[in-house]
Amino acid sequence: MDYKQALNHPIFKTISQSAESLDVDAYVIGGFVRDFILNRNNSKDVDIVAVGDGIQLAKQVAVNLPNKPKVQIFKTYGTAMIRHHDLEIEFVGARKESYTKESRNPAVENGTLEDDQNRRDFTINAMALSLNPSNYGELVDPFNGLGDLELKTIRTPLNPNTTYSDDPLRMLRAIRFATQLHFKIEAQSLHAITKNKHRINIISKERIVSELHKILECDKPSKGFLLLEQTRLLDIILPELTALKGIDEIEGQRHKDNFYHTLEVVDNISNQTNNLWLRWAALLHDIGKAPTKKFNKKAGWTFHGHEFEGSKMVYRLFKRLKMPLNDKMKFVQKMVLMSSRPIILAEDRVTDSAVRRLVFDAGDYVDDLMTLCEADITTKNPKKFKKYHNNFKIVREKIVEVEERDHIRNFQPPISGEDIMKTFGLKPSREIGIIKETIKEAILEGDIPNQYDAAFQLMLKTGKRLGLKVVD
Ligand code: CTP
Repeated sequence: MDYKQALNHPIFKTISQSAESLDVDAYVIGGFVRDFILNRNNSKDVDIVAVGDGIQLAKQVAVNLPNKPKVQIFKTYGTAMIRHHDLEIEFVGARKESYTKESRNPAVENGTLEDDQNRRDFTINAMALSLNPSNYGELVDPFNGLGDLELKTIRTPLNPNTTYSDDPLRMLRAIRFATQLHFKIEAQSLHAITKNKHRINIISKERIVSELHKILECDKPSKGFLLLEQTRLLDIILPELTALKGIDEIEGQRHKDNFYHTLEVVDNISNQTNNLWLRWAALLHDIGKAPTKKFNKKAGWTFHGHEFEGSKMVYRLFKRLKMPLNDKMKFVQKMVLMSSRPIILAEDRVTDSAVRRLVFDAGDYVDDLMTLCEADITTKNPKKFKKYHNNFKIVREKIVEVEERDHIRNFQPPISGEDIMKTFGLKPSREIGIIKETIKEAILEGDIPNQYDAAFQLMLKTGKRLGLKVVD
């Protein structure tokens, strides 16, 4: 492979000349090199390691670039960053690090390139490309990262216990890379992750969530969640999911394993959408099943109210993981809360009024809800599978039909409270609520169309029933 091709961009010559003028060696290292060899969509993040002062090199590069970009310096980390067109270039001095037990922030000492490669997370991320005139474009790969790319293996440069204990975030990174790249994690590494799992507690929630997002964004997220489960990290990070594991049997009645079912749903939905929050909804749609599970002789296993319980758990889970409690969280809650609604429809006869109610309750999210519910079909019975999908097709068609006719999405009542007060000369009162509710129900049931005249007539009729008089 001609590694010089990775350095086609003119910025690399500038960095090379800048480093030469400062008399330091410089290398491109990490993800950029890995992704070039893997032929993965061109990475825009470039990491440069200087055997010397990285910040000084960044400043020199900025001076040598025609547009003199700003150098952003991160003193605590000893790094500097330049944005150049669409590239984000990060500079760091080669270092030798020793970590303390309590934190992942290392005590830093200057080191050689090899020291720096030693302290990186994986062999596939420790490969460097020389920017030095004597061997420009040469691959420096002391741990055979190239071989591991071929074998599709995640392996650490040092003893895995050291690498993961030094920076426990790497346990999640290993799982994330394995999922993203369809790699396996070498056995010793898996063992070390399991052993060090509790050290994940020193990692900030934000970083953990960022890795979870990346796993959820993969083609087949189940791989990552199975690895999290296998290493027992899932117990610590998302115990709501491990609580779904297992099948109970009483008097010959069994329920499905809701953990594996959930992972199937997440994979199914990932084939349909890249919407990260819809994928989160799929991951969490059944979490209310663990606390609501009951056995009853007549009905067998039940999970009554699991959707409501689940939507409350979503709030607590987001809060615990320090995820923003914003519209995205509300969206996930709504999806979880409504996750069984279309299924009930699809199991039964699909009536217009049921579809109108679904559109009314789900509003703009009705399409996302349908996508979630279709992904939720994991039955291995081909007849049922076909029937449910067919019924969902009918539901989707009816949604369009009802939408065109009745405009239920983002429903605005055709008669306002104001209209009611004016007609009957009322002050704000209980009667207004009753009339509004009666009109809404009649529209959703299909007793009257979603139109002013029909709603006005019903208002008059209901007012009369309540003993109200029309004022002139
Ligand atoms: N690195 C590390 N330990 C970490 C994070 C990063 O050793 N916990 C090193 C790796 O050599 C990695 C490089 O720093 O390649 C850059 O890190 P980052 O930008 O986070 O990851 P990339 O490998 O570039 O991959 P991605 O952009 O997909 O996260």
